[in-house]
Amino acid sequence: MKFRNFKMVGYVVYGRGSFDQLDEIISPQRINGAPFVFLVDHFFEGKPLVHRIPQKAGDRILFADVSNEPKTSYVDSIAKKLKNECGKVSGIVGIGGGSTMDLAKAVSLMMSNEGSSADYQGWDLVTRPGVYKVGIPTLSGTGAEVSRTTVLTGPTKKLGMNSDFTPFDQIVLDPVLTANAPVNQRFYTGMDCYIHCIESLQGTYLNEFSKSYGEKALQLCREVFLEKDKWDEESDDQLMMASYAGGMSIAYSQVGVAHAVSYGLSYLLGTKHGVGNCIVFDKLEEYYRDAVYEFKKMEEKNKVEIPQHITKGLNEEQFDTMINVSLGMKPLWENALGKDWEKIMTRDKLRMLYERL
Ligand SMILES: NC(=O)c1ccc[n+]([C@@H]2O[C@H](COP(=O)([O-])OP(=O)(O)OC[C@H]3O[C@@H](n4cnc5c(N)ncnc54)[C@H](O)[C@@H]3O)[C@@H](O)[C@H]2O)c1
Ligand SMILES: [Fe+2]
Repeated sequence: MKFRNFKMVGYVVYGRGSFDQLDEIISPQRINGAPFVFLVDHFFEGKPLVHRIPQKAGDRILFADVSNEPKTSYVDSIAKKLKNECGKVSGIVGIGGGSTMDLAKAVSLMMSNEGSSADYQGWDLVTRPGVYKVGIPTLSGTGAEVSRTTVLTGPTKKLGMNSDFTPFDQIVLDPVLTANAPVNQRFYTGMDCYIHCIESLQGTYLNEFSKSYGEKALQLCREVFLEKDKWDEESDDQLMMASYAGGMSIAYSQVGVAHAVSYGLSYLLGTKHGVGNCIVFDKLEEYYRDAVYEFKKMEEKNKVEIPQHITKGLNEEQFDTMINVSLGMKPLWENALGKDWEKIMTRDKLRMLYERL
C-alpha cells in the first residue's frame, strides 16, 4: 500500500477530573461474570488514586513493576496469570506512564493470541484483536496513548508489537493524574515528545499531516519548558495535549537519530527511553543544531542534569552491539538522513557518537 492507512484509538475523553467518568465508560463493556483488570503503575500503590478505581466484585488490581521497561517475559507472565486465574476478562485498563500503557496493550493482545509476545515483535504479526483495552496516562510525552505499537524487550530484540490491533479502544486523558510527577521524570518524558516533534519536523518523511500535529506539539513543549515561569495546572494540560499531538505527528512520519541511537543504549545498558533520548539528543548538534541549543536552554531552565559518560569503559563487543541495534532501525535513519543514509552514518561515525555519550 502506497499510503499508510492507520488505525487510531477508538474513543478519547479529555479533561481535568475525567478519570472519575471511568466507571460510566467501561460499564457497557462488562461481559457477564468476566472481571476488569486494572494494571496500575507501582508508583500508585498505597496512593489515593487506587481508591478511585471503579473496582467491582471480581475485578483485579495488579501493580505493574516498571523498574525496568517492559519485557516480553513479563507480558507473558501477566497474561498467563490472568488466563489461569480469571479465564476470560472484560478488559484491561492500563494506568501509568508509557511502560504501563505498553504493558496493558501487550497483555490485552496476549489474552487472545497464542504463544509468546516475542513471536509478535515486528510489523503486523498479530492476527487476533486483543481484549478491550483502555489507556490512562499519568506521565505525558511518550505518545504511547495514541500509537499502534507497544515497545518490548524480548530475548533477541527490542521491538514493538506494531499492528492495527495494538491501539487502545479508549483513552482517558486527565491531566490531573500527571500533577506532582518528579521534575526530572517529567522533563525526560516531556523531552521524548519534544524530540518526536524535532525528528518528525526535520525528517525526510515529513508531510502536512505530520507537520500540522508536530508544529502544535512543539509550540506547547516550548511554552511549558521554556516560556512559562513556573509549572502550573495549565502546564499539565498543555503537555498532555503535546504528547497526543506529538504521537499523531510520528504516526504519519517517523522518529530519527536520537531514537535510533538511544535504542542501542537501552538494549545494552537498559537506559530508559526518556533519559536515553536526552543523553543522545544533547550531542546531536550536527543533525539538529538549533533544536539542540534550544534543548540545552530547556535543560538549564528546568534545572535538570543530563547524565554524561555513560558509555565510558565499554568494550569493543559492547560498542558493536549498540551499533548493530541502532543501524537495524532503518526507517528511522532513512527518515533522518535520506535514502543514502548508509553512506552518511557509517559504523565509524556512529562509534564516535556512542563514545561521546
Ligand atoms: N508505545 C509507544 O508508542 C511508545 C513510545 C515511546 C515510549 N514508549 C515506552 O514508554 C516507556 C517510557 O515511558 P515514560 O517515560 O512515560 O516512563 P515510565 O512509564 O517508564 O515511568 C517512569 C517512572 O515514573 C513513574 N511514574 C509514572 N507516573 C508517575 C506520576 N504521575 N508521578 C510520579 N511517578 C510516576 C513510574 O513508576 C516509573 O518509575 C518506555 O518503556 C518506552 O519504550 C512507548
Ligand atoms: Fe520516543
